[in-house]
Amino acid sequence: MCGIFGYVGAKNNAGQLVVKGLKNLEYRGYDSWGVACKVGETAVVEKDIGKISSVDESQFSEECGMAIAHTRWATHGGVTPANAHPHLNASGTIAVVHNGIIENYQTLRDDLKTKGYAFKSETDTEVIPYMIEEEMKATDDFASAVRNACSKFDGRYGILAFHTESNTLVATRTGSPLIVGVGEEGYFIASDIPAFMEHTKVVQYLDDGEMLVTDGKSILFTDLETGQEHPKREIEITWSVEQAQKGEYAHFMLKEIMEQKDSIARAVNQDEQQIQVIADAIKNARGTFIIGCGTAHKACMAAEYFFSVVAEKHINVTSAGEFKVHHHFLKPESLLIVVSQSGETADSLEAMKIARGKGAKVLAITNAEGSTIDREADYTLLINAGPERAVASTKALTGQMAVLMLIAHTMVDKLHEGKTLLLETVSMINDMLNPRYVEHIESLAEEIQNTEDLYIIGKSWNYPMALESAIKIQEVSYIHAEGFAASELKHGPLALIEERTPCIALLGNDEVTPDIISNTIELKARGARTIGIAPENNEAFDEWIKVPDAGAAQAIVNIIPIQVFAYFLAVKRGMDPDMPRNLAKSVTVK
Ligand code: G6P
Repeated sequence: MCGIFGYVGAKNNAGQLVVKGLKNLEYRGYDSWGVACKVGETAVVEKDIGKISSVDESQFSEECGMAIAHTRWATHGGVTPANAHPHLNASGTIAVVHNGIIENYQTLRDDLKTKGYAFKSETDTEVIPYMIEEEMKATDDFASAVRNACSKFDGRYGILAFHTESNTLVATRTGSPLIVGVGEEGYFIASDIPAFMEHTKVVQYLDDGEMLVTDGKSILFTDLETGQEHPKREIEITWSVEQAQKGEYAHFMLKEIMEQKDSIARAVNQDEQQIQVIADAIKNARGTFIIGCGTAHKACMAAEYFFSVVAEKHINVTSAGEFKVHHHFLKPESLLIVVSQSGETADSLEAMKIARGKGAKVLAITNAEGSTIDREADYTLLINAGPERAVASTKALTGQMAVLMLIAHTMVDKLHEGKTLLLETVSMINDMLNPRYVEHIESLAEEIQNTEDLYIIGKSWNYPMALESAIKIQEVSYIHAEGFAASELKHGPLALIEERTPCIALLGNDEVTPDIISNTIELKARGARTIGIAPENNEAFDEWIKVPDAGAAQAIVNIIPIQVFAYFLAVKRGMDPDMPRNLAKSVTVK
């Protein structure tokens, strides 16, 4: 949540550069934007509410070798120009952008007020420049003052700061990601790689509890507390700039949906020895837990069925934010599987910390190589989906489910069978996602766009997909959508059904099919407009969206037409599917 980006180096258009780059991080927040450019010995600040993508960067000074910028997802304080970052001290010499939350800001703010500081915003961030200013009373060294100020902050944050009288950029991190792009003409420091990908593909990661100081020519990583130097590796990233762009598509969401025919295949293409090591670790664990947030949590729920049906192994599923209360079940022999597209979600990171605190091992299933979750896990499987930019997760989900399905097969010595199943599924998805198919779903979205409520039912692994369907529809179209276990209908949800209420049933071709057909007929009998997503048509359906029969991989197939449907519902209703209101892609606050 919130994106930050700073640059210092030989280029003299730093303000333009950081605003342009930050447009690639808009998925992290789009409430307001701001930039501070160091021009001579002053900080020139521009900020406003609205999306950074609407800002013309050519307006910023071309005489600037250092700048920091921010795109905001509001936490403390409303969406106002005053609350937009950067925040400065009263004399305008210290400029700060911040991602995260300074949890003890109220105490610090009260204390600073007694010392005469006047606050202009309602944010937690504004205490940072004032705290640094206070520390500068004891030292002339800006970096030391930042270090000393940080020792007084509680919470999780990533901070970029500069002082107008020095040419160094300082960054600190406890919790919120910061990645350094190492360029020939300077250093780029951002919340995520796409900000600077057009300049360099060589990166260094700032870890939790670290600080960096750079003047654009060299960079020094130190321990935030002790000041001790930390040597860093340079890593070359494998994504291309094109992968992170929309290309011919109107929106990232549609691009990412269509990419699934390739991305699932990449997820399946895992190192067999590594998958075997992980399958053995799960088999030998005394208690396996699987956690994630949002869509990743629905992948975890689907995995519970994969492991149960394919490997006859019970795993415990919890939403990452709920994991804390279950900590007493963890032992050193336990295993925690953390599923996260971004590898930076605060609740997932906290669950991981709890598990490690109990001595348990952690397996990460993530899309983000080098992310905190990847780096801190004992084992990692990358889903290799490529950058996912739309807030609504699509290709990451199917990649996560493919990897989990592969692990389940490997646990019962059926790795190759699992691989074949998944690759056949990929080929069926390729055939399915043809223009006529997409048009059919678009026309259904056209008809249903004005509904106020929409319900989705599923059973077995289609139950988590019903929940995921509801998330997809809610987040991009703002229609009230809810998913249910089909068997639960008669215990409450049926009372919601009115004449022509759209109800989607997700089916496969398996032993639960007759049950869910009966439930769909029950819905129809109460007047619902029933839509079956199923390999075969049935008189229970008013409308049928055909999907291939993918056996145990049916969940992976069935969610795809829903993603397309949700996309078109959003577009028909005039919403931007890539940037749903109130949401952000990377949820780095609890
Ligand atoms: C946000 C995103 C979702 C995502 C969830 C978990 O809510 O909008 O798409 O599923 O966070 O994120 P993660 O990166 O941990 O998978």
